[in-house]
Amino acid sequence: MLDRRTFLQSAAKTATIAAAATRLHPLFAQAAAPAPRSPNDAVQLALIGAGIQGQGDTRTALQVPGVKLVAVADCYDGRLAHAKELWGADIFTTRDYREILARPDVDAVLIATPDHWHKQAAIDAMRAGKDVYLEKPMIHIYPDGPEIIDAAHSTNRILQVGSQRVSSIIYAKAKELLAAGAIGKLNMITARWDRNSSTGAWNYSIPLDASPETCDWPRFSGSAPKMPFSAERFFQWRKWKDYGSGVAGDLFVHLFSGTHFITGAHGPTRAMATGGLRFWKDGRDANDVLLALFDYPEGFNLSLHVNFVDGGEESEGFLFTGSEGLMEIAGNTVTVTRTPLESEPGFTVSTFTDAMQQQYMEQYRKKYPIPHPSGPPANEVQKFVAPEGYSDSYDHFHNFFNAVRSRQPVVEDATFGFRAAGAALLSNLSVERGSVVRWNPETMKIA
Ligand SMILES: NC(=O)c1ccc[n+]([C@@H]2O[C@H](COP(=O)([O-])OP(=O)(O)OC[C@H]3O[C@@H](n4cnc5c(N)ncnc54)[C@H](O)[C@@H]3O)[C@@H](O)[C@H]2O)c1
Repeated sequence: MLDRRTFLQSAAKTATIAAAATRLHPLFAQAAAPAPRSPNDAVQLALIGAGIQGQGDTRTALQVPGVKLVAVADCYDGRLAHAKELWGADIFTTRDYREILARPDVDAVLIATPDHWHKQAAIDAMRAGKDVYLEKPMIHIYPDGPEIIDAAHSTNRILQVGSQRVSSIIYAKAKELLAAGAIGKLNMITARWDRNSSTGAWNYSIPLDASPETCDWPRFSGSAPKMPFSAERFFQWRKWKDYGSGVAGDLFVHLFSGTHFITGAHGPTRAMATGGLRFWKDGRDANDVLLALFDYPEGFNLSLHVNFVDGGEESEGFLFTGSEGLMEIAGNTVTVTRTPLESEPGFTVSTFTDAMQQQYMEQYRKKYPIPHPSGPPANEVQKFVAPEGYSDSYDHFHNFFNAVRSRQPVVEDATFGFRAAGAALLSNLSVERGSVVRWNPETMKIA
């Protein structure tokens, strides 16, 4: 097991490399960058979208030294009231996030609204001079990507996307191992995120007081098609494409963020996907099974799937396959198994006559003496486990607040976020079109 310091040293190294690769959009004039602040300066934070993730994120963010929560915006009164229960009666609360953006005492905002609000809330916040921690997926629809990238550039604000695994010491270790040739030449990655529960399939609880009085339905709906109040759509929005981006935007995006961070790749060039609504036929229009394949120009393939009724336990993980072994990420562990490539003639010789078998093997042995006279070597296994209680979310917020103070770029900036979410949404496009979809990961355009 690695100690935390060794892990963090490799994480810092990889973060520097990725940060150096960060590109800004060249076309737009930039606002002046704020002066860097002391690492000890307090950062005043506001939360926009105080639901499941917004509350969880805020708890983690407040564990980072020097961070103070001053305001919360949400469209359900019960969550605003709970924000005061959690963080004190003096927290400013509102249904209208613009009131938060107008406050000079807010330095940064954490946006954890449904996906269809990500672009507008992030752009409004950056234009109001706030730094932004924006939950994944960065985009809901493709045009969101360039708009967010341009706004981050022109306003000169820090924007970090919330796929926290990009700050994980486990992922940093995996990146380091791959670059060091631990599994030889990478040829395939398979990753999955399977679930087997009603909550896992987005059937989140609806509070008993949900109504047009307690829920600001017009504000929640935003750019989505207008329709009468629906508590299901309000509290279980992931089930409808009007607000969410299906399992691709919800879960594939984490797998893309991980793939891109670990391999350094910018994205696939081709995607083909299939799927369907196999079990949760409860009125939703987002599929519960999705399988997708991607070609990467670096010379490997990526295979992803999500199954919301997998017949077992929730299971999430990666398997990297290389010419000299396998690297698996599961939970807080990365394991490398190196298996020497078998090159002996093996069983196919036994189909020849006895005389030919003998002659063949004599000639073969002259050329290739027995490589391991005392038996084949055992597989070489290396396992790295994050320290007990390790939290990648904490490190992701720590990195964000460091950037807010130092004005240094973050790893998971708007370009990284678009490359991950844009790649993920290719799966939806491929299913809709029933065909292969091409993508240019450099220009971030559908080809
Ligand atoms: N990084 C992760 O691991 C992770 C995990 C879960 C969710 N998420 C992301 O977090 C986001 C929120 O997901 P959730 O599960 O917390 O959803 P949620 O429904 O529990 O919470 C969303 C909240 O946003 C509020 N909201 C909607 N429109 C708003 C607006 N215009 N202004 C202010 N508040 C508004 C809603 O009232 C709701 O309380 C999603 O984008 C999701 O993909 C990320």
